[in-house]
Amino acid sequence: MSVERTLSIIKPDATRRNLTGKINAKFEEAGLRIIAQKRIHLTKAQAGEFYKVHAERPFYDELCEFMASAPVVVQVLEGEGAVAKNREVMGATNPADADAGTIRAEFAESVGENSVHGSDAPETAAAEIAYFFAGTELVG
Ligand code: CMP
Repeated sequence: MSVERTLSIIKPDATRRNLTGKINAKFEEAGLRIIAQKRIHLTKAQAGEFYKVHAERPFYDELCEFMASAPVVVQVLEGEGAVAKNREVMGATNPADADAGTIRAEFAESVGENSVHGSDAPETAAAEIAYFFAGTELVG
């Protein structure tokens, strides 16, 4: 297993409920290092570009509206096998299916408002990180 970087987003349902610190503690307890982080308020167009792979899905418009509805925290997590480890810490997309102790089991409100996003593969992670961060902002 090699050291990887992955993109994480703490979503509007979580920032609204002031859960950034509790979610970051889950990442750090799992050995993931937050090497870049910023709070931003996405426009619907920026959310749409980020999630364009889902453009044909029935929930796309709702997803983009939601992601632009309040601030998000975008972050880069680094660690051994960070992509898979982050997905483990997040839990299943639908909180009803998420294992106990995962972020989504503890905090997510629904499949749409599920508190966090994480890249699904190292190649996706590189593209998603570049969407939000300049190389000089990653401080490993
Ligand atoms: P995320 O990991 O950010 O990737 C795509 C997002 O689409 C996903 O988390 C969910 O928040 C959202 N999503 C997936 N399925 C549904 C659905 N059936 N209804 C609404 N949103 C969904």
